[in-house]
Amino acid sequence: MCGIVAYVGPKDAAPILLEGLQRLEYRGYDSAGVAVVASKALKTRKVKGRVADLAAVMPARFKGTTGIGHTRWATHGVPSDVNAHPHLSSDERIAVVHNGIIENADALRQRLEGEGVKFLSETDTEVLAHLVSRAVEETDSLEDAVRRALKSVVGTYGIAVVDAQRPGEVVVARLGSPIVLGIGEKEMFAASDVAALVRYTRQVVHLEDGELAVLKADGFHTFGGDARETAKEPLTVDWETANYDTGGYEHYLLKEISEQPDTIARTLRGRLDDRFHVAHLGGLNMDARETRSFKRVKIIGCGSAYYSGQIGAQLIEELARIPADAEPASEFRYRSPVVEADTLYVAISQSGETYDTLAAVQELKRKGGRVLGIVNTVGSAIARECDGGVYLHAGPEVSVASTKAFTSTAAAFALLALHLGRVRDLSPADGRRICEGLRALPDQIKEILTQEEHIRSLAHKYAASPGMMFIGRVRGYPVAREGAQKLKEVSYVHAEAYPASELKHGPLALIGPEMPTVAIVPDDEMLDKNLTTLGEIRARSGRILMVGHRETDQADDCIVVPKNQNELDPILLSIPLQLFAYHAAVALGRDVDKPRNLAKSVTVE
Ligand code: G6P
Repeated sequence: MCGIVAYVGPKDAAPILLEGLQRLEYRGYDSAGVAVVASKALKTRKVKGRVADLAAVMPARFKGTTGIGHTRWATHGVPSDVNAHPHLSSDERIAVVHNGIIENADALRQRLEGEGVKFLSETDTEVLAHLVSRAVEETDSLEDAVRRALKSVVGTYGIAVVDAQRPGEVVVARLGSPIVLGIGEKEMFAASDVAALVRYTRQVVHLEDGELAVLKADGFHTFGGDARETAKEPLTVDWETANYDTGGYEHYLLKEISEQPDTIARTLRGRLDDRFHVAHLGGLNMDARETRSFKRVKIIGCGSAYYSGQIGAQLIEELARIPADAEPASEFRYRSPVVEADTLYVAISQSGETYDTLAAVQELKRKGGRVLGIVNTVGSAIARECDGGVYLHAGPEVSVASTKAFTSTAAAFALLALHLGRVRDLSPADGRRICEGLRALPDQIKEILTQEEHIRSLAHKYAASPGMMFIGRVRGYPVAREGAQKLKEVSYVHAEAYPASELKHGPLALIGPEMPTVAIVPDDEMLDKNLTTLGEIRARSGRILMVGHRETDQADDCIVVPKNQNELDPILLSIPLQLFAYHAAVALGRDVDKPRNLAKSVTVE
């Protein structure tokens, strides 16, 4: 999705803006641009293409110590130089970069055109530049002009604005699209994502919806919707620049898959209690009585977050014996859900920004629901909106396809299920069994990663298939769904996931030599039934790649993973499927870290 970077301070802004934009490349974009203020005039460059293309057209002298930059993901108007941000007012005094969507842009454009304004681009953003330009004539503060302009806007925005007449000042504002301020030494930064800031500062401030901030080299002021100044506490982020380098790996995706022994360990660190075999989750903000009071758990998230929620629902049902289910947040938010006081709602998000999930949380809060967040990004919008929660501490995930956040979320659910279970009927012995299982995960993941070469050769073997079926029963089903999701996201090979038990109720018609099946076959109560299903597939000449705990001659190929506790096996069974998708994508020459049409976090509706 679109990215914003802004700078004000003593240094030249352009190199800082370009570097920041590069850090945001992982989010997906189609054009890029910057504007800096120099000697009471704006200098602008923007291109369709990559940040490197923008850097290539920047003149050597592009001086100016205040500036804004943008990577655009086209919504209104095709990707082109003209439609790229920043957008300028007709007198080239005001420049604006914008994330989000202005829903009444057409009406505003018509009104402004009626008043004689000439538009250059097809974007919704350009109306903002003209609105601010008109307002700035009537007030002596840029902050006030931006506030006035935003009053006529319906929609969502994260914006950064500069005024050629006010070098040394940037105004930013947010409604539904993230803006984070970075505090430096006699310099200030702003961005839509912490990734753009970590090279320069760890001290950040997140803007809330409706807030606006004025940045100058010597500091910042934030204001609420009512124009009153708000007090903000800076947060220290522990993410490092190294998280945004491939660190010797060919792709972020492989790096992040390989990091999982460590990322799972970080999610668990300090949270397992060997004395009482319970989990300590300090951020839940609930006492034991409240924790016992819930009769149901409803989990919401999008994409891979939703599938990890399905694993979570099973863990909670099995360990805590509370009815639990997961639903896509993108559906939940629109179907006017019945919100119950004795249901615990859990929202999952790696980025903490996914708009559908955020909107679902807001709807729940409006209706009085109790919402916990399982979130990777500290201080993100979803984390702030929830009543409490569990941070993953998995470090930033850069590759568009989620891997380490997926397994860390599942591990966080195991902790939550243990916690909910141990205030109910889960015995100390079962508590110990789960604690031991969780502690074993990092080494077991290392063992799976040693099989990369075997998995690579299987990915090469199956990558040419026109499509693949992924099946699993009960605990294996969300694993199959996430495996299919990974494959289609990064390799573009068509993949369908089905409960293995449903195969005979329809999809068996697809099975034949052209449609291989990836079967998740853990060594659990479902083993015999799963082996019977493999027999049915073979009887239809279907090829089978089995992922499980022991080899079987019912399958053409097998990937064997170490056995953990039945409830925790889904975490380990997911990892070979990540490697399989990765190597299939490499074999097919795909843009592994930035698959076509996808964005890392979808911050629009
Ligand atoms: C996008 C990404 C998915 C991701 C989903 C949820 O659709 O392409 O890979 O799973 O968003 O993201 P979140 O940051 O909320 O976990």
